[in-house]
Amino acid sequence: MARIFVFLVLGILTLCAVCVSLEDNVPTIVYEWETVDMDWPNETIRQDYYQNNKYQPKNNGINGIKLYNGTVYLTIPKLKDGVPFSLVEVKHDRTNSPLLQPYPNWDIHMDGDCSKFKLIQSMEIDPYTGHMWIIDTAFVPRGAVSVPDPCPKKLVIWNLRTNTEVHRYSFPSSVIGLGMSYLNDIVIDFDTNRTARWAYISDTLGKKLIVYDRLLDASWAFSHQSMNPETQYGSITIGNVTSNYGILGINGIALSSDLRYVYYCPVAGITLYRVSTKILRNKLSTATDFANDVKSIGSKRYQSDGIYYGQKHNLYYSAQGPRSVFRWPVLDGPGALSRHTAAFHNRIEWIDSLAFDDDGFLWFVTNNLNTFFTEGGHNGTSNYFVWKVFVDDASYLKFGTDTSSAVTCIVSITALLLSMVVSI
Ligand SMILES: *[C@@H]1O[C@H](CO)[C@@H](O)[C@H](O)[C@H]1NC(C)=O
Ligand SMILES: *[C@@H]1O[C@H](CO)[C@@H](O)[C@H](O)[C@H]1NC(C)=O
Ligand SMILES: *[C@@H]1O[C@H](CO)[C@@H](O)[C@H](O)[C@H]1NC(C)=O
Ligand SMILES: *[C@@H]1O[C@H](CO)[C@@H](O)[C@H](O)[C@H]1NC(C)=O
Ligand SMILES: *[C@@H]1O[C@H](CO)[C@@H](O)[C@H](O)[C@H]1NC(C)=O
Repeated sequence: MARIFVFLVLGILTLCAVCVSLEDNVPTIVYEWETVDMDWPNETIRQDYYQNNKYQPKNNGINGIKLYNGTVYLTIPKLKDGVPFSLVEVKHDRTNSPLLQPYPNWDIHMDGDCSKFKLIQSMEIDPYTGHMWIIDTAFVPRGAVSVPDPCPKKLVIWNLRTNTEVHRYSFPSSVIGLGMSYLNDIVIDFDTNRTARWAYISDTLGKKLIVYDRLLDASWAFSHQSMNPETQYGSITIGNVTSNYGILGINGIALSSDLRYVYYCPVAGITLYRVSTKILRNKLSTATDFANDVKSIGSKRYQSDGIYYGQKHNLYYSAQGPRSVFRWPVLDGPGALSRHTAAFHNRIEWIDSLAFDDDGFLWFVTNNLNTFFTEGGHNGTSNYFVWKVFVDDASYLKFGTDTSSAVTCIVSITALLLSMVVSI
């Protein structure tokens, strides 16, 4: 009997250790590249791109990431010359540094009229339909000086299952404005019948939050001082590199899994803000309605790029200085004690965007953006990384799929106990 008891206690301890170790905050490197390369259709084309500087490897920095049905999609925004393809998928032909393939096809990335993809920074995927909502901010560098592309900025909805275009919408200048603008990140919001209907988009240089309504096929925008950079937080230090980001406003954007609130933050700043979707969804809401609703949720303590909301009401945010992703159970309020390190690694340099898979892992891209513009990144070592870390959570878009490892744990412990009782 005593032996069985010892056995039982040991069994329970082992299972608990397994369950707890799943919460480990050391992320795994899924892919890493010093420079990325394409899966060129043939050698003639490859040489043409390399020799004529149409493809300049050091200028191709991965930024965005989203996953669908086992495929990893990345963006390579055209922030410098020689960046021909700004939306790609990962080809699984090399284990650790795979080739990339232009998505959805080669042709849509070719220079040409406004129907082509110009500069994709971000996308979001509706998990129920496999529709990817792609924002094209149409801003392509020309030589040393970047000038806005004459093409309107657009949203393209692409069906990943059938590989066909579903819809496209061009943003009018009455919404975008005539000054600087950069459509940076996107979340999608659902109607009561679970139809993806609205997109909320951060405009980092226009310092605006743009709303697109698929049903009305119309867009509108809100401005508020919370979207402006806080210049005293413009300077970010990672390791021994300090750079200034004082012109960068609203960038990180996240939608709560109950679809009630949009969270956002400027790059230059440490405050997290929240506004109700009921204000954003309503075309008639005014700047005053917005200002009356918006709330400061508290301090993130560090500057962020991408942020993402998990099913369990955790806000995951990149924290550049400490090379970490933090998990903040935002419903608990602003207390500093409620923020946990979800991922830390000393090879993390500039966390760009975040995504979830269907197995409880948070994925993210790091890309040395802090040295990309000044030194063109590192020589002789990896610059671009895709990481994942088990956080036992899911995307805000996976409504009602709340299975936790605690539940799994209790179930397995119960099963163990039962099997022991049976064996006695
Ligand atoms: C390379 O691919 C391009 C585009 O598919 C094609 O037009 C061309 O004929 C190919 N060249 C060779 C040598 O196969
Ligand atoms: C997911 O991918 C598999 C294998 O590539 C494919 O057979 C399946 O149809 C895809 N499912 C969806 C929903 O796209
Ligand atoms: C769901 O709502 C959308 C927009 O309100 C509407 O277009 C669509 O027909 C509805 N779908 C169903 C299945 O009711
Ligand atoms: C900065 O740090 C890197 C490694 O972390 C080191 O290789 C480099 O020499 C340092 N540069 C300076 C100026 O200290
Ligand atoms: C990498 O090499 C290039 C070209 O030689 C140089 O301009 C750049 O400063 C180097 N970057 C670093 C981080 O050493």
